[in-house]
Amino acid sequence: MRHLISPLDLSVDELDNLLKLAADILADKEKYSHICDGKKLATLFYEPSTRTRLSFESAMLNLGGQVLGFSSADSSSAAKGESVADTIRIISGYADIAAIRHPKEGAPLVASLYSDIPVINAGDGGHNHPTQTLTDIFTIYNLKHRLDNMTIGFCGDLKFGRTVHSLINAMVRYPGVKFYLISPDELKIPDYLKEEVLDAGNIEYIETNSLEDAMPNLDILYMTRVQRERFFNEADYIRLKDSYILDLKKLETAKDDMLIMHPLPRVNEIAPEVDNDCRAVYFKQAHYGVYIRMALILRLLGLM
Ligand code: NCD
Repeated sequence: MRHLISPLDLSVDELDNLLKLAADILADKEKYSHICDGKKLATLFYEPSTRTRLSFESAMLNLGGQVLGFSSADSSSAAKGESVADTIRIISGYADIAAIRHPKEGAPLVASLYSDIPVINAGDGGHNHPTQTLTDIFTIYNLKHRLDNMTIGFCGDLKFGRTVHSLINAMVRYPGVKFYLISPDELKIPDYLKEEVLDAGNIEYIETNSLEDAMPNLDILYMTRVQRERFFNEADYIRLKDSYILDLKKLETAKDDMLIMHPLPRVNEIAPEVDNDCRAVYFKQAHYGVYIRMALILRLLGLM
């Protein structure tokens, strides 16, 4: 049985095949509309979500399956003190596959150890978010038609932003990938990623506070929200929350074909005036998330 806990649980070849399957689904959704008839997806969300939970549910419904689940810890038995291990043992008897989001790093991994059904990590604390990474990579693949030789600027909260951590882990596997890591000093990417992934893999990267300096070099600008819920101190959040605000003026020096991505939700970090710029692809990115999750469900259930 396969789970998806880390972005590295899929090899580059498996990911490549998954992208091809998602592209085929995107081209002919109807062909896949009954493959999951009779199957159920459980969404176990101990943290807020709009896109991830609903795109998973939409994906399963598009495949002909059904969905059940909870969307907050207080509406589940977690509020009574039940462990994730016990919950997944029970859900294994109610559903065929589960997507789990939890504020504690490692909770989906624990769930997978006690599960009789495939478990998908839908975000664990400030750690990983592998299905957002699949969404991001599917977006790059569709819009740039390559994954190698890409200069990617990550901007904002690189310390707590799990989507950044997962995408870096996945992208270093492609040749010629280079990163600009743009953040305030307090929100730099964790040392373990620098040492174990970037330095260990001899990956070229530049850490900077300046979005303006990085801008002309980027093929992709990946903006992120400052992760308020992971701060210990509200005053620090308030001080750092508007460190970067992307607007049309700042985009003047960007390449004409640079992609502006964001996992969403955005707060202030992208001015609404940017939405109509043809380089802004974040809404499209969220939409692609349905198709790659359809492909993932089919693979993990062993149906394709
Ligand atoms: C992201 C997350 O939950 O980490 N959202 C998402 O799943 N699209 C990014 C965020 O919350 O800032």
